[in-house]
Amino acid sequence: MNSGYPIVRPRRMRSSLKLSGLIKETTLDPSKFIMPYFVIHGNSLKEPIMTMPDQFRYSIDKLLEELKSVIDMGIGGILLFGIPKHKDELGSESYSPDGIIQQTLRAIKDVYSDLLVVTDVCLCDYTSHGHCGIVDENGYVKNDETLEYLAKIAVSYAKAGADIIAPSDMMDGRVKKIRESLDDEGLVNTPIMAYSSKYASCFYEPFRDAADCLPKFGNRKSYQMDFSNSDEAILEVGLDLDEGADIVMVKPALSYLDIIYKLKQTFKRPLAVYNVSGEYSMIKAASKLGYLKEDAAVIEMFTSFKRAGADIIISYYSLHAAKILG
Ligand code: PBG
Repeated sequence: MNSGYPIVRPRRMRSSLKLSGLIKETTLDPSKFIMPYFVIHGNSLKEPIMTMPDQFRYSIDKLLEELKSVIDMGIGGILLFGIPKHKDELGSESYSPDGIIQQTLRAIKDVYSDLLVVTDVCLCDYTSHGHCGIVDENGYVKNDETLEYLAKIAVSYAKAGADIIAPSDMMDGRVKKIRESLDDEGLVNTPIMAYSSKYASCFYEPFRDAADCLPKFGNRKSYQMDFSNSDEAILEVGLDLDEGADIVMVKPALSYLDIIYKLKQTFKRPLAVYNVSGEYSMIKAASKLGYLKEDAAVIEMFTSFKRAGADIIISYYSLHAAKILG
């Protein structure tokens, strides 16, 4: 006999506003966000990046001002990219004690000693040819020789105050080499966040303008992963964890949610995702044109990273998202 109640209860009863907070499966927390910054030599500079509206290249003094809001919003940390004064074949400013990143690290640590600072370790911003490694006379990247340089950069950053070292070059064996070099220098407590599953992606295009690191010849497909592959991501992450990575990363994020999910399910280790420049700029551009509601798009996108399995979100929208969550 029918009790008089509908067999299927109206959906609105189950999704009342009060209840929705309790049963929400995924929540966002700014302390798990990382905000990237580009730093340049000079004073009082805040240069707009044409391909990434509302993002800037900061001189150190201006960056320090900007970091006040990062701290106020409770953002988990920042990721630094340096733009050198001088580029050469060996990317020598990257490991110079007076390089742009080393100077920035010392300045930040003087003022904000508690702020977590991650430094990207790669040669491409610093080399005259724009590749992520040392190149031979035929234009091939020399993997093993590059490792020596990456280790030098990592040690130099850690000595200048970096809290986490993040190699983004994708050379084979770099995590092991960097770990050994840090340990040899007594920097045993400096963790490595490896860009383990880094795809050769069109979504890095705006970054290459921001950091002025477009390769002068060839492309990065010989050392970054083919976006058609997913088992390869498991292999790369497994290797980096074996070599001593503390946190592993998937990059880009939006078109790679399946990879994030698979890696989290497989390894159950700290996982970061990098919501890259092109992903930022497409939402920014659509929002500026009035095609999308920016805040809604940002929160939905960030939530999808978390839902897929990301622990840490690196995004040019980190500060914006933290303000929305307020
Ligand atoms: C350096 C590096 C790149 C990015 C982060 N680190 C460029 C690249 O690999 O081509 C891209 C970040 C972004 O697009 O936001 N190797």
